[in-house]
Amino acid sequence: MVEQTFIFIKPDGVERGLSETILQKFTDNNFKILHIKELTLTKEMADIHYNEHVDKPFYPDLLSFITRGPIIAAIMEKENAVEEARVLVGATNPAEAEEGTIRKEFGKNTGENVIHASDSEKSAESEIQHFFPDYVT
Ligand code: RTP
Ligand code: MG
Repeated sequence: MVEQTFIFIKPDGVERGLSETILQKFTDNNFKILHIKELTLTKEMADIHYNEHVDKPFYPDLLSFITRGPIIAAIMEKENAVEEARVLVGATNPAEAEEGTIRKEFGKNTGENVIHASDSEKSAESEIQHFFPDYVT
């Protein structure tokens, strides 16, 4: 089924000038970019987006990292997009990511791993709504 997922290039990826290269990897893999925008996350947005992690010991570091500069957020469309995007992105820890994945190629460590992708259809739906509230399918 053709579906939509949500991704963002994290501040480390934007700072290092990787945005175009990373987006190209999506389009090379037949994803269609439906909407795209640059924004800087506020603490409030980060707390909502990473709600499942707010009580974890790494959250203070994650919060300061993810709010330190602009991100590039996009809605991507493809057959089986949620799973396909997670495969293209690779494992959370770049050292454990498969060859050919974005995190393997560009990620520095588990914290600075250059990109987010929704982990389920349910997350994709709520994250699209959160980041692109004016977007209606
Ligand atoms: P994301 O949500 O950003 O797409 O990453 P993910 O699903 O692969 O990993 P998740 O477990 O949801 O963790 C979210 C982000 O938090 C940072 N993190 N740091 N230091 C640590 O132990 C640690 N664990 C997670 C990473 O930036 C991770 O992508
Ligand atoms: Mg996650």
